Amino acid sequence: FENERTWARFVENNSTDSFHKNFDDAVGQVQKDFGKKYPMIIGGKEIFSDDVFQVRSPADKNLILGNFPLATKDDALHAIEAAKESFYKWSLVPYRKRVQIFREVADIFSHDKFRLAAIMSFENGKNRLEAMGDLDESIDFMRFYAEQLEINQGFSKDTKNDNPTEKTKSTLKPYGVWGIISPFNFPSAIAIGMTSGALITGNTTVLKPSSDAPISAFKFVESIYPKLPPAAINFVTGSGGIVGKTILESLLVDGIAFTGSQEVGMTGYSTFEASRPRPFISEMGGKNPAIISASSDIEKATDGVLRAAFGFSGQKCSACSRVYVQKSIASKFLERLVAKTVALKIGKPWEKDTYIGPVINDAAVKKFQKASDIAKKDGKILCGGSLVSDDTNKNGNFVTPTIVANLPLDHELIREELFLPFLCVEEFENFDDALAMANKSSYGLTAGVFSQDKNEIEKFFEKIEAGVTYANRAASATTGAMVGAQPFVGWKDSGISGKGAGGAYYLLQFLREQTQTRCE
Ligand code: ALA
Repeated sequence: FENERTWARFVENNSTDSFHKNFDDAVGQVQKDFGKKYPMIIGGKEIFSDDVFQVRSPADKNLILGNFPLATKDDALHAIEAAKESFYKWSLVPYRKRVQIFREVADIFSHDKFRLAAIMSFENGKNRLEAMGDLDESIDFMRFYAEQLEINQGFSKDTKNDNPTEKTKSTLKPYGVWGIISPFNFPSAIAIGMTSGALITGNTTVLKPSSDAPISAFKFVESIYPKLPPAAINFVTGSGGIVGKTILESLLVDGIAFTGSQEVGMTGYSTFEASRPRPFISEMGGKNPAIISASSDIEKATDGVLRAAFGFSGQKCSACSRVYVQKSIASKFLERLVAKTVALKIGKPWEKDTYIGPVINDAAVKKFQKASDIAKKDGKILCGGSLVSDDTNKNGNFVTPTIVANLPLDHELIREELFLPFLCVEEFENFDDALAMANKSSYGLTAGVFSQDKNEIEKFFEKIEAGVTYANRAASATTGAMVGAQPFVGWKDSGISGKGAGGAYYLLQFLREQTQTRCE
C-alpha cells in the first residue's frame, strides 16, 4: 500500500495554497452540523437518547459541536450481547471480503479527508496538519491491516506433518467480542486502528470513544456499519464509570484494546483479568526522553524537540517531555529552543497559521497550572508557565508551551506523565549518564537522540529502554510514527502487549491458533 501520510509530509514541507484553500472550505462546511444530535449504534440500529452530554470545542467553549447519548449500563450490555450474537455471521465472512470492506472505507475517508480533519480540529483542538496527519494515519491503518491479512492469506496454512494418514493445518481464529476503549488525542486514528485490528480479523466490537472527542470516532462507525452484519460494530457513548466499567466487567467480552493513561489502563487490566484470562492490548502513555549530545546539529535537535514536545500541545503519548542535554552546549541549545518556542503561534487550531491550539479540557488546564506552580517553586521556568487570556482566545483552554530547568532528577514533574506542552530539561556530563537518566523511568514508549557520533547512536539503540526510537529526526524527536514503517509499541509501564500498532505482528493479537487434523 502507499502511505497516505507521505502526502501530508509533502504539504508540510511545501505549504501549498491548495491545502489551505481546501481546509478553509471544509471549515465552512462542517460548521453546518454543529449542535447536531448524534446516535449510538447498537445492534445495527441508531439509538438516540434524551439524556445527552454536550461536546464543546476546547478552543471556544461557546461552540457546541454535538450532543451524544449518555449510555446506561443496559445500553452497554445490549451492545455486548448484540456483538456476541453477530460473531458467527461476521467471523465466517471470507477474509478477502473483509479486506475489501476496509479498503472501501479507507477510500471514503480519503475522499472526505478535509472535512473529517476540520471536524477534528474543532473537536479536540488539533491544528490543520496534525488533524490531517490523524486522518492520514487512520487511512493507513485500514489499508495496512488489509494488506497484512492478504500477505498472510487470512492466517491459515498447512503444517508440516510426517504422518501420511493425517492432513493438518494451523489456522488463526478470532476470539469473539472485543471492547475498544479509545482516547481523545487521536480520536480517529487510534479508534480506527484498534477497531480495525479486531474487526478485520473477524472479531466483533463494542467501541467506547472518549467523551471529549466522540464525533471523529462516530464518523468511522457511520461509514463502516452499513457494510457489516448488524452489530459487528457497536458504538456506545457515555461515561467511563458506566460504559467502560460494564465492558471491562462483562464475561461476554473476549478481549480489550485500550489506549489511554497508565492509571486507567492498569485499573482496567486488573478488572478485566480478575475473572478469566483474556487478551488485553494496551498502550498507556510515556515520559519520553530526548538526549542531545554535544556533537549534535543544534538546529536539527531544537526543531526535533520543539515539534515532539509542543506538537498538539504535548498531548500525545509519544510527546517528548524530558530532554537531557550535554553541559558544554546546554546554554546554546536552550537559547535556540526557547527562541523557537516563544515564536510558536497560539490560536484557533482550524486557522491557517496556528501551531499551538488549546489543551483538551478544564482538568488539563488545572493540571497545567498546578505543574507550573510546582515548577516555579522547585525549578526554573525558562519560558511559558502561564495561561493565555487574550481576547481572541479567552473562551478556550489555551496554555503557553513551557520549558523548565533545574528540577531535581527524580522530581515528580520528571517522573509523571502530564500530557501537556510541558518540557523538563536536565544537563549531563557524559553520554552513559544521559542514557541512565533517560532509562530511569517507569515508562518506555518513545525516545530520541541527536548526535553526530556513530558510537553514541549505536549505544543509544543498544541500551535505550523504549519501544519506538529515533536518531537525529528533525521532523520530530519522538512523535509521528508512520504506519508500517514505525510499529508503535510501549515497553515497561507504557504497554502490555509488546507488539506494535501498524506493525506486522499487531493483528496476531486478535487471533488464537487452532490446529486442525483431518485423518484418512
Ligand atoms: N503514533 C503517534 C505518534 O507516533 C502517537 O506520535
